Amino acid sequence: MKPRSMHASASAPAKVILFGEHFVVYNKPAILASIDKRVNVDVKVRDDQKFVIKSKIVKNGTFDVDARNKLLDKPSKSTAQPIIQAASDALKEFNSDIGLDLYIRSEFPVGVGLGSSAACAVATIAAVGSLFGGLTKKKVCALSMNAERIVHSNPSGADSAVCTYGGLLLYRREEGIKPIHKQFVSEFIVVDSGIKRSTGKLVSSVGQKMKNDAGAFTSLANMSENITMQALTSIKAEDYAEIGSLMTLNHSILRQLGVSKRTLDKIVQVALDNGALGAKMTGAGGGGCVIILSKNGTDGNTMKKALGEYKTFLTRIEYAGVIVNSPNL
Ligand code: PMV
Repeated sequence: MKPRSMHASASAPAKVILFGEHFVVYNKPAILASIDKRVNVDVKVRDDQKFVIKSKIVKNGTFDVDARNKLLDKPSKSTAQPIIQAASDALKEFNSDIGLDLYIRSEFPVGVGLGSSAACAVATIAAVGSLFGGLTKKKVCALSMNAERIVHSNPSGADSAVCTYGGLLLYRREEGIKPIHKQFVSEFIVVDSGIKRSTGKLVSSVGQKMKNDAGAFTSLANMSENITMQALTSIKAEDYAEIGSLMTLNHSILRQLGVSKRTLDKIVQVALDNGALGAKMTGAGGGGCVIILSKNGTDGNTMKKALGEYKTFLTRIEYAGVIVNSPNL
């Protein structure tokens, strides 16, 4: 099929996991939210069959058909590989083998637990699809899982779902998403510990722990499930003090699981000492980010000052999900 337009763009949001990371891989529930920072992808049709990637967040390069196929055939450490997978999967839907220029930009730090890999895949697929008239959100989300499997072999699908559909979601691997129909009025402070880490390695280390001590793992998983379901009730009741306490409790479960780090624990403590309602690591851990829920009206600057050695930003839940410049999605 021939593209209907020569240029398209799409964006997908970053995400925070409010409750339930890691255990969501094992079909326990998680609560996620997309936030008001995005990955933007512009695609242009080329008159050859090359993919040319220009970005500050993934490996740049020119990939002819051979180079693309080679990359897709076997695992590689190249950060271009998931993008090539995502763009190729979208083209395959339209039986197309055109070449593309792909410009990828991010408004948020990558590799720190904010879902940059899923946002890149979702926005790339949506942008490429819209050259041909568009793909449904369901299709975009499903295809993005192939790219996510390159990033780590056993993704729960939670990141892809929240980056595609947006908003505040309850997610279970075998059941998919359930939107939580509640406007979450509070802002979050996101603190980047500056420590980069690999989601894949952390997810495998948790898998190993589960094998080594199934009893301990199951009890933590059940606690995580209880916390997540209590949090759902608190979100519906708009009880922010309770949501905060549950976030801090969730952090201690993740610490017991062994995926936190001293720096993350320290950030959580500083946040609590400075009046936060709650705080926890978010995403795979091992570094990356902490999210802080602070009282409405709390002076964000006090917290920023207390955490002055780290990069911080204020963020809100955003409800749009993936956005394309075509009306078809
Ligand atoms: O750190 P991130 O943004 O890659 O999030 C990973 C979330 C996990 O629950 C640890 C894994 C998953 O696939 O859900």
